Amino acid sequence: MAKTKTTFFCQNCGAQAAKWMGKCPACGEWNTYVEEVIQKETGKNKSPIQRDRKAPVPHRISEIEANHEQRINTMNGELNRVLGGGLVSGSLVLIGGEPGIGKSTLILQVVLKLVGKRVLYITGEESEQQIKLRAERIGNGSDDCYILAETNTQRIFQILEEMNPQIVVIDSIQTLHTDVIESSAGSISQIRECAGEFQKYAKITNIPVILIGHITKDGSLAGPKLLEHMVDTVVQFEGERNYGYRILRAIKNRFGSTSELGIYEMSGTGLREVLNPSEILLSNREKNLSGIAIAAMIEGIRPMLIETQALVSSASYGTPIRSSTGFDTRRLNMLLAVLEKRSGFRLGAKDVFLNIAGGLRVDDPAIDLAVVVAVLSSNEDISVDQNICFAAEIGLSGEVRSVNKLELRLAEADKLGMEKIFVSKYNLKGIRPEDYQIEIIPVGRVEEVFGKLFG
Ligand code: TYD
Ligand code: MG
Repeated sequence: MAKTKTTFFCQNCGAQAAKWMGKCPACGEWNTYVEEVIQKETGKNKSPIQRDRKAPVPHRISEIEANHEQRINTMNGELNRVLGGGLVSGSLVLIGGEPGIGKSTLILQVVLKLVGKRVLYITGEESEQQIKLRAERIGNGSDDCYILAETNTQRIFQILEEMNPQIVVIDSIQTLHTDVIESSAGSISQIRECAGEFQKYAKITNIPVILIGHITKDGSLAGPKLLEHMVDTVVQFEGERNYGYRILRAIKNRFGSTSELGIYEMSGTGLREVLNPSEILLSNREKNLSGIAIAAMIEGIRPMLIETQALVSSASYGTPIRSSTGFDTRRLNMLLAVLEKRSGFRLGAKDVFLNIAGGLRVDDPAIDLAVVVAVLSSNEDISVDQNICFAAEIGLSGEVRSVNKLELRLAEADKLGMEKIFVSKYNLKGIRPEDYQIEIIPVGRVEEVFGKLFG
């Protein structure tokens, strides 16, 4: 009789070890190893989808038929774009995101629009009634969408075989469990095994499977992270829960680019596609407020204009506070140090708060100049004209540095009727100012910008 086999898994990163350890050598976390049974005593460990298939034989690469991937149009432009042009048949797609961000809403909304495609939506988290309520909220659609409340993969595969759907959705992978493995649902080995079963299912049947998975804020919770190498496409759904905007980002894509990005707004009736991202900026603009500057930034490959807001005030307590939302606080500290040391602005005893409008997180360094201008504008209490925008990085010596894809930024600013844009003077190679309506103002140092705006 075969022995029960157990292994220890780090619940943080999924690393595997033969014995318990206090500190995980892979991720450095303490006390995260848990013993999991990975094989039961009896020969029950047949994966439910091991069909009688002929043993594979090697083929010359020239003998292999190139059948171009078939894509299913999801009828959702932003999702199509992020997936690289639609859902590829037989692919396994993982949608990760924090709980409550709108993953279930997005996918339900998409499958309800797929008229004529038989979809099986398997829910382990919510009851059929809850899904029904949500469907009513976003507007009922396709009648070919079946809901199944089941978490056992063996039973799921039975139903899949009988029903033979064209698209399968699993909400969420953390709730599934397979009989092959004994540990509880949501544990590392369960998640890995269940995902593996669906991977085989997708490849054998050529039916696309969408897995939904939760991750926590730091993205560390076991599950989606360790699935990344098993699935074809990883899409992350992110956003600040208290704001309406959500960004769908491809992190890995075997069938497309990972620089694509989809933007949605959560409304009372589901997620609305945001076709013109700059509307995030244009939503509520008050005239002539100090501490506001507009950046021409790029997320993925999409240019958009976004408002940066700063508040500078004298520190009321000993240590000044530096706080930012949507922008790296360390980078803010660096920019403030540059202003202080290189350009002589006295901000050392001031509290500085920075906010990126719309609840977006921005990593594009081209927003630096707008951040600096917003801080100076608030400090001087002089407003910046609404029709001026900025696109440049700031270096440690206070120099204004060039940024990539300036043409896209210029075109976007132009489209939205901006009148002036400040860019680095080193950025002008290959740019033909006569192609744009907008006036391009090249600058070399932060003080120059200050002089031109407030001087
Ligand atoms: P949900 O899709 O359940 O999130 P997830 O599956 O990622 O955990 O969405 C949760 C939030 O979305 C919830 O707080 C309610 C909100 N919501 C709306 O604002 N409008 C809607 O039409 C729907 C369906 C949900
Ligand atoms: Mg959900």
